[in-house]
Amino acid sequence: MDTICNKPQKTFLAIISFLFLSLSFSFTSEAQDGEKLFKQNCAVCHSLGKNKIVGPGLEGVSKRVPSEEWMIKWITNNQEVLKSGDEYAKKILAESGGIPMTVVPNLTEADVKAMIAYINAPPAEVAVAPVTPVAEKIKKPGINPLAILFGIIAILIIVVTILRRLNYSLSNLRNKNEGLTPEPKYSVWQDLKIWMADHKRTVALFTIFITLGVLQASWDSLKEIGIYTGYQPSQPIAFSHKIHAGDNAINCVYCHSGAEKSKTAGIPTINVCMNCHKGISKGPVTGTKEIAKIYDAAGWDPDKAAYTKPEKPVQWVKVHALADFVFFSHQQHVVVGKQDCANCHGDLKTMTVAKQMQPLTMVWCINCHKQTEVPGMKDNPYYESLHKKLAEKFKGQPITVDKMGGIECAKCHY
Ligand code: HEC
Ligand code: HEC
Ligand code: HEC
Ligand code: HEC
Ligand code: HEC
Ligand code: HEC
Repeated sequence: MDTICNKPQKTFLAIISFLFLSLSFSFTSEAQDGEKLFKQNCAVCHSLGKNKIVGPGLEGVSKRVPSEEWMIKWITNNQEVLKSGDEYAKKILAESGGIPMTVVPNLTEADVKAMIAYINAPPAEVAVAPVTPVAEKIKKPGINPLAILFGIIAILIIVVTILRRLNYSLSNLRNKNEGLTPEPKYSVWQDLKIWMADHKRTVALFTIFITLGVLQASWDSLKEIGIYTGYQPSQPIAFSHKIHAGDNAINCVYCHSGAEKSKTAGIPTINVCMNCHKGISKGPVTGTKEIAKIYDAAGWDPDKAAYTKPEKPVQWVKVHALADFVFFSHQQHVVVGKQDCANCHGDLKTMTVAKQMQPLTMVWCINCHKQTEVPGMKDNPYYESLHKKLAEKFKGQPITVDKMGGIECAKCHY
């Protein structure tokens, strides 16, 4: 896995072979769906048009190769064809600058025939489906019940005040008519006090409502602190994990190569997208619209098949974010701890838009450390002496992450 990012000085050939191998590991050829097989195994290097990617564009290829048998042989084992001294093979190898085509393992003759049928007659342009709007994590500006409560109280106070004023004026008028002394004039607060004294039960009810409302509101905001489970921002390019990691079974680490060798998994650069998308300009859902954004970002002109403009990095919106004071390493969990991506990220293979599935709180980390056995501790030389000590200390009990210190504050906090 080191080849991709760490040693850019390695030859182009090595990189291409690696890319191709890492892809073909995750691909099986059970389906005889020519289109799918082609996209999985060949589209990395071949377009169906005239454009050269690594290998030649395959438009009209059946007419230029010596025969269909030749093509089947070539696709199943091009090395053998080359070794046999085949003239045409020598010619195309020279034309591609001596870069040999990588042998595709596990392809049956039926698979190859299905692919050839697809190469010869790719389906006509499919009507572009409308873009499904991306779900946004925007809370609807609903009306706070507390605000309604305060509103009602305010209105009541006003009504009561007006009524009392009216009452006061009326009784004064009466007093005046009957030649009595006018009643003293009360302030709003005095009015309210008098009213409250008269309506003790209503006041008690209101007090209970307000207290409950305030409690509820503060509890809700407490629960929200630091927890963004379900956060699913829309992205500048409608990238779908379902189409890539699900339907096309592309390995997670093909794109998130950091997950096996560093703290962060990382988001792939536009060049990683271009490995395939030089050849794939149209998708099943968004047609050419979203893939055109890749070309734009990479500065690629699909008509000229060349990088003609400057690169514009894509501003992906971060979905997960741990607090800065927490140390978390993907390598430790994925390689040493043998944890599946899905344990912490859910099943991305089914997600059209990436979403945070776990709370990423301290309790979440610690619960898993208390429940998960340290994998391979027995056979891992890295843990040999530690394992002996722990096995003695916790006789017979499973050795979970917390037992080797996985809940010590300093392990997660700098
Ligand atoms: C790693 C890159 C790579 C992959 C993957 C790849 N090819 Fe190729 N292919 C090449 C190259 C490069 C050539 C030119 C000959 C050479 O250099 O070996 C070629 C040549 C060909 C040719 C002959 C083209 C011509 O113009 O005569 C056919 C047909 C072909 N490939 C089909 C396929 C099919 C089908 C697949 C998938 C099963 C596939 N290739 C996968 C790189 C690749
Ligand atoms: C073809 C490349 C590709 C493959 C394969 C892929 N991803 Fe991604 N992944 C991306 C891109 C691009 C983003 C950023 C855009 C987005 O969030 O959708 C991303 C985002 C993510 C995120 C969210 C990152 C954040 O911002 O917090 C997670 C988690 C993730 N991928 C996990 C996976 C897992 C697990 C798999 C395998 C099942 C996988 N990815 C396969 C390209 C890929
Ligand atoms: C290993 C090959 C590969 C890589 C790398 C790759 N893709 Fe794709 N992509 C595909 C395939 C295959 C399809 C589906 C084409 C189809 O089914 O017609 C696709 C389709 C798409 C679509 C269209 C989906 C739709 O809704 O129709 C978009 C957008 C896309 N990819 C974006 C990206 C981005 C962004 C990257 C880089 C982060 C990337 N791809 C990397 C193979 C790849
Ligand atoms: C799905 C289960 C799981 C979750 C969730 C999880 N971890 Fe872990 N963690 C493990 C396993 C398993 C190991 C043991 C790896 C090893 O063998 O070193 C580990 C080891 C660690 C270690 C090294 C401990 C040591 O003693 O060397 C740190 C640090 C760590 N995790 C931090 C975190 C943080 C921070 C979080 C939350 C953001 C988290 N982990 C969430 C399973 C998990
Ligand atoms: C033990 C839990 C755990 C496992 C297993 C795990 N991740 Fe993560 N992942 C996290 C956490 C926590 C974050 C947030 C890290 C941060 O913000 O610093 C994260 C962030 C990411 C991101 C965003 C970019 C980054 O690196 O911060 C991607 C992409 C990602 N993970 C992909 C993967 C893939 C692919 C796998 C499997 C190979 C995987 N993760 C396995 C917990 C996990
Ligand atoms: C397995 C990893 C892990 C261990 C061990 C751990 N923490 Fe945390 N801690 C976290 C994570 C993750 C957060 C961030 C929570 C968030 O952002 O909601 C956190 C947050 C905190 C906070 C900030 C308060 C908050 O909720 O945001 C404090 C204080 C804290 N930890 C103290 C400790 C102390 C004290 C210990 C030792 C008893 C400890 N932690 C052990 C992972 C850990």
